[in-house]
Amino acid sequence: MIYVTKRVEFSASHRLFNPLFDENKNNEIFDKCNNINGHGHNYVLDVTVAGIPDPETGYVIDLKLLKKIINEELIVYVDHKHLNFDVDFLEGIIPTAEHLAVLFWQKLEIKIKNGKLHKIVIYETANSFVEYYGEPIEIKVYN
Ligand code: NI
Repeated sequence: MIYVTKRVEFSASHRLFNPLFDENKNNEIFDKCNNINGHGHNYVLDVTVAGIPDPETGYVIDLKLLKKIINEELIVYVDHKHLNFDVDFLEGIIPTAEHLAVLFWQKLEIKIKNGKLHKIVIYETANSFVEYYGEPIEIKVYN
């Protein structure tokens, strides 16, 4: 098996809070991430596809195609947006990197026909990142 990865970047803002918690509890749990007007990240997203190279092309998946899928399914919706307000598929979701990974997976998996989506990594900073391998995870929607 070969693992092929495309890295893309996007910039977005978010605020982490639970609408069912009071202000004190939100501050206690989310601290600066609960800043009322949000805060920003330069996110780095790594999308890894696993497969066997096609004997006629040598590709597991053409990285130009993978980039196009990531751009069309995700980046156009999240880049330079406020994740709490601007993105339909994140509505009512606490926009942690963990949750982004699960929802990004759902958007990408159905579009990848060459090879199989294997891993998503989302960096919020160079030293803080989450990895997801597609195990089913239910996400609570607050509305
Ligand atoms: Ni943040």
